[in-house]
Amino acid sequence: MQIGKAVEGAEAGSRQGESAGIRANESPAWRAAYDSQAQVERRRSAIPRKLRKLGLEGGTTNVRILDLCCGNGETLDALYGMGFRELRGADIVIGPDLAADPRFAACVADAAALPWASGSFDWILIVHALHHLGPAERIRTVLAECHRLLSPGGRLAIVDFPNSPQIRLAFWCFRRKFWLFTPYLRYFGKLIQEEWCFLKGYLAEWPRVRVLLQAGPFEIETFHQEFFYYFLTLRKPVPAGGEDKRP
Ligand SMILES: C[S@@+](CC[C@H](N)C(=O)[O-])C[C@H]1O[C@@H](n2cnc3c(N)ncnc32)[C@H](O)[C@@H]1O
Repeated sequence: MQIGKAVEGAEAGSRQGESAGIRANESPAWRAAYDSQAQVERRRSAIPRKLRKLGLEGGTTNVRILDLCCGNGETLDALYGMGFRELRGADIVIGPDLAADPRFAACVADAAALPWASGSFDWILIVHALHHLGPAERIRTVLAECHRLLSPGGRLAIVDFPNSPQIRLAFWCFRRKFWLFTPYLRYFGKLIQEEWCFLKGYLAEWPRVRVLLQAGPFEIETFHQEFFYYFLTLRKPVPAGGEDKRP
């Protein structure tokens, strides 16, 4: 099964999405913290467990997967290790290492306007990135894009922060530099401070975002919530009388 070809030539290999006419919201300080080698390695080791929670284990590996907002490609790398081969990534910023990695096709693209034909994917993942995509109206557009790109029966899998009292308290502490006892907590606190400008809006708009996720065009397949993250897998319904073509 082939991944659908990009409708428009998406620019790959550019470090900055701006060169493709797309503006990244993340500050250079956020990117420096996020890209640090120690944190890349730490995230890499955590990804397989997250992918299992989303339901990406035990089924066929003959599926077309888009990692939307793929960052440095750590999730793509983990998927490759699990045996998946039809892997694409899209992000507003694609670094040279990911652009040159022959295992994946990663392109610079805005999540609200993606360059593939309808029905091109069986799975779309948004890992730790939905809160970067606000406000809610924009998230509606992103979800509509995902719906368009998925085949009937295809899955949209999301990992992100829940808007729980615990997470609000944790963020409050991080922003005031409480709890920053270990290098990891200092790193996480730095990220929260740097992305607070859009994290704040995402949490405030969570009631609207939750309705978009729960009562939008998708069916909920699985939902798990932990202290820091929720794991949500949505399914694009198969039209009445239609055939679930997903392997
Ligand atoms: C917290 S990082 C998550 C990256 C990756 N999914 C991971 O788990 O490591 C959020 C990513 O969203 C990307 N991003 C932000 N706005 C975007 C947009 N409008 N379209 C595509 N990617 C976007 C950022 O460039 C960044 O790589």
